[in-house]
Amino acid sequence: MMRALAALAAASLGAHAATPVPDLMPLPASISWGDGKLVIDSTFRVAAAGCQDARIAAAAARLPARLTRQTGIPIPRAAAAAAAATLVIECKGPGEKVQSPLEDESYRLDVAAQQARIAAPTAVGALHGIETFLQLVIPGQDGFAVPALRIEDKPRFAWRGLMIDVSRHFLPVEVIERNLDGMAAVKLNVFHWHLSDDQGFRVESRRFPKLQQLASDGLYYTQDQVRHIVAYARDRGIRVVPEFDMPGHSTAWFAAYPELASAPGPYRIERGFGVFDPCMDPSRERVFQFLDAFIGEMAALFPDEYFHTGGDEVNGKDWDRSPRIRQFKRARGLKTDEDLQAYFSKRVHAIVMAHGKKVIGWDEILDPKLPKGSVVQAWRGPRILADAARRGYPVILSAGYYLDLLQPAAFHYGNDPLGGEAAALGAGERSRVLGGEACQWAELISGENADLRIWPRMAAIAERLWSGSDVTDVGSMYRRLESASVRLEYLGLTHRSVQGPMLDRIAAGQPAGALRTLGAALEPVKGYARHAARAYKSSTPLNRMVDATPPESGAAREFSGAVDALLAGDQAQREGVRTRLAGWRDQYEALKPVFAASSLAAELEPVSRDVSALAAAGIEALDARPTPPGWVEFLERAKKPRAELLIVILDPVRKLVEAAGAPPPAAANKP
Ligand code: ACM
Repeated sequence: MMRALAALAAASLGAHAATPVPDLMPLPASISWGDGKLVIDSTFRVAAAGCQDARIAAAAARLPARLTRQTGIPIPRAAAAAAAATLVIECKGPGEKVQSPLEDESYRLDVAAQQARIAAPTAVGALHGIETFLQLVIPGQDGFAVPALRIEDKPRFAWRGLMIDVSRHFLPVEVIERNLDGMAAVKLNVFHWHLSDDQGFRVESRRFPKLQQLASDGLYYTQDQVRHIVAYARDRGIRVVPEFDMPGHSTAWFAAYPELASAPGPYRIERGFGVFDPCMDPSRERVFQFLDAFIGEMAALFPDEYFHTGGDEVNGKDWDRSPRIRQFKRARGLKTDEDLQAYFSKRVHAIVMAHGKKVIGWDEILDPKLPKGSVVQAWRGPRILADAARRGYPVILSAGYYLDLLQPAAFHYGNDPLGGEAAALGAGERSRVLGGEACQWAELISGENADLRIWPRMAAIAERLWSGSDVTDVGSMYRRLESASVRLEYLGLTHRSVQGPMLDRIAAGQPAGALRTLGAALEPVKGYARHAARAYKSSTPLNRMVDATPPESGAAREFSGAVDALLAGDQAQREGVRTRLAGWRDQYEALKPVFAASSLAAELEPVSRDVSALAAAGIEALDARPTPPGWVEFLERAKKPRAELLIVILDPVRKLVEAAGAPPPAAANKP
């Protein structure tokens, strides 16, 4: 008999105290705990029963190696009959030839002491079930096991994506592969591949080879590599939506084919970042002839039913400067540049549809002429999402999911596609909100640190898009996110491990341990502040402390929580707080030889000194000594970014110092 364990809101998982409870992410729709557990050891075998889908055979074949990486237990890759298998995977149908957003992704997972069984209507659902099973394998007092349970699960939203920009910085195939592995692990199902922009054109075109020859610096995906990635993604239940951004964000195209542009040029690949003037020329038929041939070629290469043609951030300057284009607008009765862009989009959308695809674009495409059924990607705010839904368009949310803005996971987690403006939509309108996509723009990432920027925060967004709207407990999310983060490294992602070599490089042969301690007190500046700090170019090395520092410091968040608890009277926190502070105080002395030795470390001297002084003040406060002289001026300096880094332990230490400096509450209350 299964013991029903209530709703799945976060806290309830922790309530199952007898055996360790795995930190699932995303949380499933329903779970009930049974008695006992299924032991996972080297006798583990998997059987795919009645699945006529090659994806299940492939996933089953990958399973032993994945379990081995996760547990360290050698597990042979050997077939088993269903009766003898540890895990049996059943799915009803072979699944759609090209995965569609309408596909049933549900699954059921039953775990008993003898066997686990995944049952799903489609291969995609079964793939999700396998990921849940793997998340459940945790070590207990007598080895690795999965607790007996039944999970019934399906996603809240059909479109759960990650957009990765590979134009600003090219990302090699293996970086894409491991990010697809991570996406599958948290049940994301759309990889939106931003393949062209001002800074590079990243796909081989056989029809227009100058695109890769002249517009990519030699950094592009061959068509064979594209087919490989598409197949790799499909094997993991992920659709690949290609984006070719037009008519703006298109300088790289013109380095190869200047005849597409609104101005005569000459053009070179753009090396800076921002919004630039070069733009396709809507007044020339040859532009649409080119795009027809190009989109035809790419439509055959990318099987997904959707094709993304960008449409964002057209500044219109090259259109306004061109007498020919001004004349074209007058002749067609197009009053504004927005009208001209709508004309361009209408022509391009007709081409996309003629090649058998549906349109998706950034929210600038929302216009009365937009073909029905086109998906609007709302990036400028939730109001546009609601507007698109009201006007009858399917829509996905990206505003609030920009990973490159380096906001905390909790910020993204609180951003519900059906919250905010969308909360006022009627039922029919709400049904048009298909889901969301996180965006990782690539001005300030490289193949080296891309994972560090995307993960683990992406997993929190994945939960927002998969789990129920009532799954909102931030404390639970952060606890489970830490476990998810560890698991993602077993898959091959490097968001944790890459800090090692990056800090070693900065330390230039000196021990890097104190840099790690310093880094735990820091976060990169947020939003677009790095671009205000210096004029980044695609050739600027991304090898500094700011590039090696995760967007969010878990240590600082925990420290802050411990300080709050201590100040609320929880004395058990005192020694932990002191130990943390001592590490931060002492890192400065330890790093002095590093500052002297390494040009990459030299810029950290002032921030390291301030972290040390801040921590020393915190220790004084713990010892109930009053506020140090010059404290206010010190705080003013310490809160300013240095080396594009923020000291994020500043607030909790300030609280400690203020608490020590103020009269104790009991005394203050006395008359
Ligand atoms: C965008 O961020 N320009 C879509």
